[in-house]
Amino acid sequence: MTQAITQQPIGVFDSGIGGLTVVRALLEVLPNENIVYFGDTARVPYGSKSPQVVREYTKDDVKFLLSKNVKMIVVACNTVSSVALDVVQKLAPHMPVCGVIVPGAEEAVRISQTHRIGVIGTVGTITSKAYTQAILREAPDAQVVAKACPLFVPLVEEGWITHAATEMIALEYLFPLLTKKIDTLVLGCTHYPLLKQTITKVTKGMVRLIDSGEATAAVVKSMLIERSLLNTSRQHPNVQFFVSDAPAKFTQIGERFLGRSLGVVKKVSIES
Ligand code: DGL
Repeated sequence: MTQAITQQPIGVFDSGIGGLTVVRALLEVLPNENIVYFGDTARVPYGSKSPQVVREYTKDDVKFLLSKNVKMIVVACNTVSSVALDVVQKLAPHMPVCGVIVPGAEEAVRISQTHRIGVIGTVGTITSKAYTQAILREAPDAQVVAKACPLFVPLVEEGWITHAATEMIALEYLFPLLTKKIDTLVLGCTHYPLLKQTITKVTKGMVRLIDSGEATAAVVKSMLIERSLLNTSRQHPNVQFFVSDAPAKFTQIGERFLGRSLGVVKKVSIES
């Protein structure tokens, strides 16, 4: 029996584990959807690599998801969304594709009162200026202050979410943005939602935090509704996880990102 297109999974991919924060947000607004997640743990991080290399890796990631018969692709990785969204669209021209940049940028413009908006992310994301451009398209009067925060990813993976060292580093990174009097800050990296508490403390609760993953989940829902792709089946949804290396580590750390246990994580080889 052929599977109804609505029951086909949403494909989500990331450079590694961080995209689970996006899956978490998706599960909240789309609890009936089947999901296939791929984390490229063998080649993570993407955030410190050149756009050319990230674009090559992206091709393999997308081809893997396409082999899983997905109905839509969500690019959970901010770095890929910044420098390789067109690569995804080209490989999957007949299905909806959603990155995290535009949803995050639009939400920031909607929330900000002063249009002084901060953006933090990996070196790749910040260097690309993708968030800045997306914000300015929405609000040409906006003042965008962007800052790469490369130490945040390893700190989060180490579990140092509220550690004093993380607080010090956060202050060091965020101080220049605070002096520019931002009222809104885009968390432009999959890992940063886990630092919400520390960032709120450092910014003394004066800055609204935008979780790009949450904004993306809302956009994904609208896209599915618009295209009549929402899964209305009452069957228990299937959420599958695939990685290119170290599934045990992914399972262990992943729980913190996903907010629940992952179940079976399978290792696959995807390099073409
Ligand atoms: N997932 C990446 C992002 O959101 C962060 C980790 C990495 O550098 O690969 O940009």
